[in-house]
Amino acid sequence: MIETLNEQNNWQSIVVSIIAVLAIAGSVYLWIQLDQSQQQITQYEETQVDLQEQLTQLREQLSATEADNEELREDLEVAENRNEEFEERIEELGATVGDIARYTSVDPELLKKYSRVFFLSENYVPSDLARIDRDYVYNRDVEQFHEHAYPFLEDMIEDAENDDIELKVISAFRSFQEQNSINNSYTITYGAGTANQFSAEQGYSEHQLGTTADFTTPELAANFEDFASTAAYEWLLDNAHDYGFVLSYPEGNAYYIFEPWHWRFVGVELAQEIEDDGDHFYDWEQRDIDEYRGKLFEN
Ligand code: DAL
Repeated sequence: MIETLNEQNNWQSIVVSIIAVLAIAGSVYLWIQLDQSQQQITQYEETQVDLQEQLTQLREQLSATEADNEELREDLEVAENRNEEFEERIEELGATVGDIARYTSVDPELLKKYSRVFFLSENYVPSDLARIDRDYVYNRDVEQFHEHAYPFLEDMIEDAENDDIELKVISAFRSFQEQNSINNSYTITYGAGTANQFSAEQGYSEHQLGTTADFTTPELAANFEDFASTAAYEWLLDNAHDYGFVLSYPEGNAYYIFEPWHWRFVGVELAQEIEDDGDHFYDWEQRDIDEYRGKLFEN
């Protein structure tokens, strides 16, 4: 009996020991596993820190590159602006040179106020004279006009014709000598006092410039003194400035009698400005008129 109890105790001890060994082994195993997991977590954390650092570095590099890019963009913009400025300056210089060339290429006499103010040399003849189309002339075979102003005269007469207005040139370019003989014959007929009111002395007539035309109509013929009562005169009042022509001697002018037939070419821009201002050519200062010299023959 006692032996049996002892045997029983021995088995119990063995079982308890086995359980204890198993528990210890399990704990050791769990501890090892836990430790490994802990190490892995630590590794992951370190890797995460590394990655975070790399990411920060990349961000810094990116923002440095962006800053470089921005700088380059700004430099490019500055260079482009400079280029544009240079181009504009070159263009301005070109325009200025062009303006000066145009200005100096135009005969300065063509915009001078000749009526009793300036004297034109007896040798003065416009550089180029064109023969006015016979259809546009009243009764003479040859009438001449400044070659560069002639296209404007032609356009004006043709456009008037399209509006059923027939303009005929009765007198255009007159040389110093022609003006002299006209003036002499008027002086003989009317006396110097009267002749001086409608006929300029030689050297003082706009006709010597080649840019002035006296108009009549087929109905009036040589009686162009009545030109003011014609539709042709009304048409010229409304339109002549668009072709560069101005009425030199309007009613009440300071130089001669009212000459509705006498129109002078001064260039489209100047004629339009004078019209817009409600002025007449001789109301303007010579220095203001001279500013339009370079544009005299421009449309
Ligand atoms: N009839 C103008 C004034 C001239 O002779 O020029």
